[in-house]
Amino acid sequence: MKKTLLTAMTALTALGAASAADLRVDCLSPSNTLVRITDPQEKYLLLPVQENAPMAHIRVLSDGRLDETLNITLAQSNIDFYVPLRLTGRDGKDILLDVRTDNTRSNHRDANDAAWSSGLKLSDTFDTSNTEKYRPAYHHTPLYGWMNDPNGMFYKDGLWHLYYQWNPYGSKWENMSWGHSTSKDLIHWDAQEPVLYGDALGAVFSGSSVVDHDNTAGFGNDAVIALFTSAGASQVQSMAHSEDDGMTFRRYEGNPVIAYERESRDPNMFWDAENHRWVLLLASALDHEMLIFTSPDLKEWALTSKFGHGYGAQDGVWECPDLMYLPVVGTDDHKWVLICNINPGGPAGGSGTQYFVGDFDGTTFKCDSEASVTKWIDYGKDYYAAVSFSNAPADRKTLLGWMSNWEYANDVPTRQFRSANSLPRELAVFKGTDGEYYVASVPSPEVDALRGKGTALKGGQLSASARKFALPTANDGICEISFEVELKKGATAEVTLYNAQGEKVAMTLDADKDTFSMDRRESGKVDFSQQFPAVTVAPAHNGTGHYSVRLFIDRSSVEAFAADGHFAMTNLVFPENPYTHISFSSPTKGARLEKAVIWNLKL
Ligand code: FRU
Repeated sequence: MKKTLLTAMTALTALGAASAADLRVDCLSPSNTLVRITDPQEKYLLLPVQENAPMAHIRVLSDGRLDETLNITLAQSNIDFYVPLRLTGRDGKDILLDVRTDNTRSNHRDANDAAWSSGLKLSDTFDTSNTEKYRPAYHHTPLYGWMNDPNGMFYKDGLWHLYYQWNPYGSKWENMSWGHSTSKDLIHWDAQEPVLYGDALGAVFSGSSVVDHDNTAGFGNDAVIALFTSAGASQVQSMAHSEDDGMTFRRYEGNPVIAYERESRDPNMFWDAENHRWVLLLASALDHEMLIFTSPDLKEWALTSKFGHGYGAQDGVWECPDLMYLPVVGTDDHKWVLICNINPGGPAGGSGTQYFVGDFDGTTFKCDSEASVTKWIDYGKDYYAAVSFSNAPADRKTLLGWMSNWEYANDVPTRQFRSANSLPRELAVFKGTDGEYYVASVPSPEVDALRGKGTALKGGQLSASARKFALPTANDGICEISFEVELKKGATAEVTLYNAQGEKVAMTLDADKDTFSMDRRESGKVDFSQQFPAVTVAPAHNGTGHYSVRLFIDRSSVEAFAADGHFAMTNLVFPENPYTHISFSSPTKGARLEKAVIWNLKL
């Protein structure tokens, strides 16, 4: 069965030379269809997707040579959305898609009638205008498609580069590639062309990038070098280099540069100036260990030590490491902090970011705490795969997380895109009242700079009858709210975001327990996953009874930070309607609202 679709005759000249591409669909059997595009003039072939359709496997041949393989839920009965397959910029001219589907169609005619084969479109454009009410306004999201870990991030010449685990062909995890966005201020992001797609060694999993100032790798001074996991039959570590400041990458022909037995992934590198060599951490996912390698040139890596056996949270898999040297607040001291993302087994179930504080001598990391001690960067349910930007100015350690949880990330109620990043935050170390060192995280200065008009709220003693204040109405109520509460012994304070439909996020500060908690069980849509409704609790590490908190609301997220960075909590929410009010109350005596401001944000 053959179908020929002649597409828009865009390039008809006065002499009548037709140059419109010929798109031909040959359904060869219920499980195999060929799509041929001869000499495409258009940039894209738009592929129709149905989210719950069975997975189809496409081999993209360019002038007869295999160029790309991808998995996609091609639309069977109805089209949920389109994704673009790039036609230009491939080595050859004529493109052939060899489409294999599971043989679920009963006969040839059914297969030929599948919605995708008649819905294919050639186009020069792909419409990325936003269609999602839950798309945040001041958090990074991909224009379309699925996103998980932020990875390979670096700063250079005024630009922050964010690469991310991306599926260009659907809104669930698949086809791991590196998407790319850049920003001058960590808030407003420009979508760039993706930089890495899977190859014969496998899909492109997480990794890191460095700016090779001294040309140790031989790709030039200031070349950007990325190491990432090639996830094929095994997980090996590959290198790519960029001579145009991270806009495009070429793979190193000697790949893989590290081939270590077992499931090991997410290489994270930094320059050790003292020992004049590179250090790399690699997660040995199933062994719950971080492997530490060193290298003079980013190509030859020697395993020097391992850390983690028996330490901290040991459930699930260990992933996405980072190691950084952080100042201890209020002193001239520094400590080393080793970040270890873990899934499942996080503080609120599912994914979470734990860390270890200690010392690193260039070869070995030694943790200060007992092996049984577990510390978390963020106590919400939606903070994962957090790693820092390399080469950041003024020694900044700016951390970015993926604002989701593997428990339900594929099911959250958005479709055009799935998942956002958390707000960027700056890290330091503080000494807790128990004498242990902890990581303090505060929103980055670029987040502070968003504050526009502030409306001061009237403080006073809190009681059972709530003090209520309206949130801004513009932009679906996005805002920052800062408040300070004084709690005597035995007191608690309740802070609630809500709307007229009864959707609410209820937060509690508890003086005796010294905790901050957030209850999102009635926050809006929660029934897409049993794991989503939750109450998350953070130790506040307060010690004074004076709690100063910053809340950031952005359509589908609520992030809470202690102003001194002593706790942080990131949670997704999906209210049917934006929250319109905040209330402050207390069921006890001894709780006083000292000061509160609702900040409009300058976007
Ligand atoms: C963490 C992770 C990484 C891996 C990537 C794959 O969320 O599992 O370990 O590199 O996602 O997308």
